[in-house]
Amino acid sequence: MTKLIIFTDLHMVPEGQSIIGLDPFKRLAAGVEHVNRHHADAERVIIMGDLTHRADRPSYERLKTLLDQFIPPLAITVGNHDHRETFTDVFPDVATDEDGFVQRVIDFPDCRAVILDTLFAPPYDYPRSHAGFLCTKRLAWLDRQLETAGDLPVLLFMHHPPHATGFTGIDLMRLINEVDFYDVVKRRGNVLHIFAGHVHRTISGSSRGILFSVFKSPVHQQPMPFDAPDASLSVDEPAAYGIAVMTDTGILVHTEDYEIAVREATVA
Ligand SMILES: [Fe+2]
Repeated sequence: MTKLIIFTDLHMVPEGQSIIGLDPFKRLAAGVEHVNRHHADAERVIIMGDLTHRADRPSYERLKTLLDQFIPPLAITVGNHDHRETFTDVFPDVATDEDGFVQRVIDFPDCRAVILDTLFAPPYDYPRSHAGFLCTKRLAWLDRQLETAGDLPVLLFMHHPPHATGFTGIDLMRLINEVDFYDVVKRRGNVLHIFAGHVHRTISGSSRGILFSVFKSPVHQQPMPFDAPDASLSVDEPAAYGIAVMTDTGILVHTEDYEIAVREATVA
């Protein structure tokens, strides 16, 4: 019954700055407090990239002061708004693979969590594109994690969705080699669920027969409608994180709009 808390798109900024009038520090601080109050028993908090808004050191340092407050242990990867070298400088304890990519595998009694680094840059250059990419090294690493999972169903965590999500602008910046990715995933046949961020919207469905969930940001969200071509437009909606719970028969995926949730239940 492994329970995982999932955050994405934190977009931390230096002190005094905001995003469409929203304070990423304040938003995430409320999320940390909410998780510690209601889900301190979670096996991990997984954070799926876009840790900062502009990949600057002060933002990573500011972020670290908040993330250090989570009671459950963390597993972190990067997104297109991140810079690997700056991130790993400020977070030296974060696991990377043998090639320096911010990806790792964690085994629980009932599932294997594989956390992927889809930042479109080799170590350690600033992103060449806001689209996502898994190079041959990273795909080979993924293949090894799937091959060695044994009987454990695999959960994948990645910043960029490996498929279109219906938003014209952001879909141009999804994982660009999704066919290669799904070739690996389908060959092994043991991926139970794919989790992604990047879109700043709550989305679920399936692609090529595999279920996926995409979560909102704690800060700014993707505006409707689907056909907005400008991916930089954002809207102020409640902050959220995801909750995944393994069960005897599969997996449950919840979203928690933690800024509007009221815990004291009353009779309707
Ligand atoms: Fe983002």
